[in-house]
Formats: sequence, C-alpha cells, structure tokens
Amino acid sequence: MVNPTAVAHDGLTIEDEWSGFVAGRYREGKSQAEFRNYDAAVVPTVAEFYKINHQLQTLDFVLEKEKEYLALKKGRMSVWEAAEFLNTLVDDSDPDTDLTQIEHLMQTSEAIRKDGHPRWMVLTGFIHDLGKVLCLYGEPQWAVVGDAFPVGCAYSGKVVFPEYFAANPDSKVAEYQTECGIYEPNCGLGNVHMSWGHDAYIGHVVRDYLPESALYMLRYHSFYAWHQQGAYQHLTSEHDREMLSWVKLFNPYDLYSKGAAKPNVKELKPYYEDLIAEFFPDKLDW
Ligand SMILES: [Fe+2]
Ligand SMILES: [Fe+2]
Repeated sequence: MVNPTAVAHDGLTIEDEWSGFVAGRYREGKSQAEFRNYDAAVVPTVAEFYKINHQLQTLDFVLEKEKEYLALKKGRMSVWEAAEFLNTLVDDSDPDTDLTQIEHLMQTSEAIRKDGHPRWMVLTGFIHDLGKVLCLYGEPQWAVVGDAFPVGCAYSGKVVFPEYFAANPDSKVAEYQTECGIYEPNCGLGNVHMSWGHDAYIGHVVRDYLPESALYMLRYHSFYAWHQQGAYQHLTSEHDREMLSWVKLFNPYDLYSKGAAKPNVKELKPYYEDLIAEFFPDKLDW
C-alpha cells in the first residue's frame, strides 16, 4: 500500500524528473523491450509517482473530478493571469537550469512559431499546460500530471508501468476489465473518461475558442499509449484517427523544445498578449 501523500504534496516537485523521464521514454524508435528497460532504470520518485497514480485513478475518482472541474466554477481568469498563477507554483532550487512554467510554455510555442505553423497552434503551445493550475486548487500531482489512460476498461500494457494497475480497485471490477469495459467499440475518445489531469481541464476551458485540431492536441497530449504506441484503437473513432496526426505533430514541441535557449518572457509578452486577444475573450471561466 503506497502512501498518497508521500509524493503528492503541493507544487510540482516531481515535474522535472517526470518530464525528463517522458522525454527519454518516448525517444523515437524504441522497442517495447527498450521501454521496459528504460522504465526499470527510472528514478524511484517517478516510479513512486506512477504507483500512486495507477492505484488511485479509478473511474469513480475521474467522474467526481469531471463533475467538480468541468462545471468551470473555480473563477474567471485571463490566459495570461493563469500563466502567471501557474508560475507561482515553481519552487526553483536551481534557477539556472530549471525552467519556470511560463518558460516551458513559451519554449514550446516559440518552437512551433519558428517552424511556421499557424497562429492557433502557437497559442496551443503556449496554453497546453495551463491545466496544471489544478495543483493550485490543491489537487495532488497524481491527479494533475503523468501519462493519461482510459478508465472503466481494461488497461493496456503499453501504458507506462502497467504492473501498478493491479492495486487499482477497478482492476477487480469485471465489468471494467473487458477490452471495451463500459464503452461501445469505436465509440470515440470524446465518450471515454480519461484519467483525470491537466489535459482534459485546459481542453475544456478553451473548447469554444480554438479549432478542433487544437482541442485534440490539448486533450490528448499526455495520452502517450495512444499517440506514441498505438494502443486503444478499439475505442477510437474514424474521426479520432484523423485527428491523431495533429496530436503527433504537437508532441515533439512539448517534449523536445526544452534544450533550446530560455525565452525572454518580458520581450515576448506583447506578441502573446496580441495572440491571446485574437482568440480569447478577456476572461475565461476556469
Ligand atoms: Fe502537459
Ligand atoms: Fe508541457
């Protein structure tokens, strides 16, 4: 039995280790065996994080969080306010090497911009992790970050650390452990409850303002088992499969822009204020 509070205290203390782990794990061209070797060698805090995440992300938990957060009753904030709010989260023990949340967002969006992608996609890069404000509402890290996976159906072996699902109470519920579980075959990801985290939240906050390709990038950017490993095809619709290319297009900007030079947030701010105003009203419901 793991102690949920052991790594689930406030802040994003495992965030750097976790994102480094994800970048290494999903380096292109890895075989399943290499994935397993990589996972086995991982730092204990990341393994401990997934142990708790896989144990506690039950269907009931997800339904409760969807009800709580998708009603968007937490308050009204502009996108820039949310980014600054998120920035307060970082406890930088080494400010020379660690990126703040805004710096990670801008590195992602600047890399997208440099490659000449449309403005909506630059903006998507800039906002993709704003759902992490969940941490500031007191959600533990296992309910905010990490690889996402469907709940209410059998777990794929392609989800990171699949062995930890044995401790999830849902693994004892027969109805949830058939291939499709509570879902119809090829029902579409929009009908599937994903483990609760920052992806679903930000995707919902901006759902009326960005093109669907952007919403897919936001909602599924942590669903690595699907977008990198091709798992859960039996739940996807034809439309999901069409949109997958957008999710895949986005992923390297999130994972691999971190080595680039630190963006000058102050200098870039006016560009982003214009970009935000082009798509969003002054305040959004969160
Ligand atoms: Fe993210
Ligand atoms: Fe990110």
